[in-house]
Amino acid sequence: MEKLPVLITERILLREIEEYDASDMYEYARLPMVGPNAGWQPHVSLSETKAVIRLFQGKKKYGQLGVFSIIWRENNKMIGTIELHSYVRNHKAELGYTINPEYWGRGIAVEASKKVISWGFEKLLLKRIECMTFPSNIQSRRVCEKIGLTYEGLKRKGYLNYDGTIKDIDCYAITDDEYFQRIYENSWR
Ligand SMILES: CC(C)(COP(=O)(O)OP(=O)(O)OC[C@H]1O[C@@H](n2cnc3c(N)ncnc32)[C@H](O)[C@@H]1OP(=O)(O)O)[C@@H](O)C(=O)NCCC(=O)NCCS
Repeated sequence: MEKLPVLITERILLREIEEYDASDMYEYARLPMVGPNAGWQPHVSLSETKAVIRLFQGKKKYGQLGVFSIIWRENNKMIGTIELHSYVRNHKAELGYTINPEYWGRGIAVEASKKVISWGFEKLLLKRIECMTFPSNIQSRRVCEKIGLTYEGLKRKGYLNYDGTIKDIDCYAITDDEYFQRIYENSWR
């Protein structure tokens, strides 16, 4: 199976997630302030994290793109994940990201998202990239705003959570036209 490309920005490197990322990933995936904000249950053991990584890798068999690990270049530590999931070839995908709380507040999700969105429009030729976030997730909504995604509205009862509850979810998106307009205006940095 073809690996994801390696994407490099000023402070981070994005590459395919690997099983050896498990201990760095478990460090944050076990925390209650991380997964539930993104719709998944905190991990209870390192072996669960390893199983989740295998699940991520397995998605490629079903035509999905796979998951990037976010590597902090200064110390080579895996500090989060980012992906374009729910991929529909030549049409659209959904952006998802998680950062280790030790690294929150430094604009890393924005830096990673911009790189992945550029890849999605320029290499995958997507027409639309969306990002869904719970209305209560101020941090993720700020990320969407800072990237410059357009707020499209609240999908009422739009999300089936891991615990079986149904939740409202905010929808943000960017189209290829918007993206290339920003490149043209030199406002995509
Ligand atoms: C959402 C998330 C990826 C943002 O990552 P990040 O790299 O910290 O993003 P930013 O540095 O751009 O910060 C975004 C906002 O978070 C808030 N924030 C920053 N540092 C924070 C901290 N230490 N604690 C709580 N909130 C903080 C601020 O409101 C900030 O917005 P601002 O720049 O306008 O002040 C991260 O919070 C996370 O992993 N959350 C849990 C998983 C999740 O919610 N994923 C998204 C699912 S849709």
